[in-house]
Amino acid sequence: MACDSVFFMYVLKHVGREAFKGIGTLVDVGGGTGLMAAALAKEFPGLKCTVFDLPHVVNSAKKMEGIQYVGGDMFVELPPAEVALLKWILHDWSDEDCVRILQRCKEAIPPKEKGGKVIVIDMVVGVGINTQTSLETQHLFDLEMMILVTGKERDENEWRELFVAAGFSDYKIITSIGLRSIIEVYP
Ligand SMILES: C[S@@+](CC[C@H](N)C(=O)[O-])C[C@H]1O[C@@H](n2cnc3c(N)ncnc32)[C@H](O)[C@@H]1O
Repeated sequence: MACDSVFFMYVLKHVGREAFKGIGTLVDVGGGTGLMAAALAKEFPGLKCTVFDLPHVVNSAKKMEGIQYVGGDMFVELPPAEVALLKWILHDWSDEDCVRILQRCKEAIPPKEKGGKVIVIDMVVGVGINTQTSLETQHLFDLEMMILVTGKERDENEWRELFVAAGFSDYKIITSIGLRSIIEVYP
């Protein structure tokens, strides 16, 4: 996952930057060891990042300067921030669990008019791909999520249903990078 964050940040230098521009504070929910948060803070000076993950993950992470680390459970409560980032998180979980995670995010961020949003980086099946092989790969990921965890890959309709169920008013697919998309979700 850490390697993926390094790769993703390299790509973000060229596409999808608009999703992160102008943000004051961001909490990376399930942010692992914090590589994504550190890369974001470096790329967007002035952005204050918090890494939120399970206590044992945060406690054993090598701490990086300027990054705040908070241990806890994303199903219970999240530290407040303007933006909550969910990168490679929701596809691990069932619809019911995703709605709970998204509700906790909504509680942690301000209203849309004050810059509040959730940034989801995950697959939107059928979006942003242009070959049969890519679509087959997305479906194989779906099988993997089904077998390994309780999650799944979702198409746009399924994502919309989750956002509505969690009480969000709107969303926008900003761009797609390889098999994954960046989705902004507004309270
Ligand atoms: C698939 S990894 C994604 C890591 C990171 N977002 C990335 O893209 O590299 C899922 C992360 O969610 C964290 N996680 C799992 N359950 C959690 C919970 N209940 N509360 C907070 N974090 C959790 C895991 O420890 C892990 O770091």
